Amino acid sequence: MKKLLLIEGDGIGPEVVGQTKKIIDFFTKNTDKKFETESALLGGIAYDQTGTPFPQETLKLATQADATLLGAVGGPKWESLEYKYRPERGLLGIRKELSLFANLRPAKVFNSLAESSTLKPEIVKGLDIMIVRELTGDLYFGEPRYVKTLQDGSRQGVNTMTYNSKEVERIAKVSFDLARVRNKKLCSVDKANVIETTEMWREVVTEIGSKDYPDVMLSHMYVDNASMQLVRNPKQFDVIVTGNMFGDILSDTASMLTGSLGMLPSASLGEKQKDGKQFALYEPVHGSAPDIAGKNIANPLATILSFSMMLRYSFGYIHEADMLDLAVENVLELGMRTSDIVGINQKPISCSQMGDCVLEQLIKLSNK
Ligand code: IPM
Ligand code: MG
Repeated sequence: MKKLLLIEGDGIGPEVVGQTKKIIDFFTKNTDKKFETESALLGGIAYDQTGTPFPQETLKLATQADATLLGAVGGPKWESLEYKYRPERGLLGIRKELSLFANLRPAKVFNSLAESSTLKPEIVKGLDIMIVRELTGDLYFGEPRYVKTLQDGSRQGVNTMTYNSKEVERIAKVSFDLARVRNKKLCSVDKANVIETTEMWREVVTEIGSKDYPDVMLSHMYVDNASMQLVRNPKQFDVIVTGNMFGDILSDTASMLTGSLGMLPSASLGEKQKDGKQFALYEPVHGSAPDIAGKNIANPLATILSFSMMLRYSFGYIHEADMLDLAVENVLELGMRTSDIVGINQKPISCSQMGDCVLEQLIKLSNK
């Protein structure tokens, strides 16, 4: 019995996690892969109910769980709060406290959705890339950080881009290991022509590559070029590794190649501890989408696919993960679309209908 922590969060979070819960319960009831779930608060709802976006109780439950599934956090309601109370602090807090340094964001185009991308279908058809974003360093956490008023009355803002070579090494290793079981190509993205920190990043990645991964083809790219190449010819990439800030931006770009932000899952993994335990948080890349929250029209597939990543990466349940991925693929093949991926002449279905369709396909596949 695996212990899962479910964090619905804000906006469409409860809806998309709710649909995924149906899938989790299916496995528990009908297969030998069993899950016991608990829930916890994070983000705006946590602030409203407990006065902090990241309650201690949530951290405790997350450390006790075998893996955590998160919906999304944030919304306009909390945007004017002091920084430390904002929903995003809850998300950044859990990433930092659990040392979830490796953020895997696969951008895979389901063939039946190639037409939904804003790019030409031939550019994205068959696309399967993996963005590895470092998640606990960089501008996001670097000190000093402040905005202060200077003597002349103007204000100065400071954030710090910082990386330690050990942090670069560990994210490089994760990325090389992933590349090794994929197409053996790794592209490291930096801004080494201008920012010293990222020049060091490039040196460290190069060293690890030549020492331990001679079988993986390593290349380097400046981030401005990488953002351009991602929309010009995305299929040139296999695995991309980059820092926290660049990874945030590039992964949103990559998501649109797949047709919708509503399709992208992610895994955030910590270091494997001596007893074999590894903290892990799975979440859709899309945010809380407050504008469509509560309307039952959100796309639950990114969260369902995040659960599939959990099956794969936290538990090694490869067969079940493949089956769930195939269920999603079949649903799309059948023309089922939530409004974010709907094509011309297609009628959108609701969030819960999409959940039901995936479940139905899963039942079919498991009876085969
Ligand atoms: C993401 C999001 C978060 C980030 C926000 C919500 C703090 O954009 O997961 O990409 O910037 O990391
Ligand atoms: Mg982002």
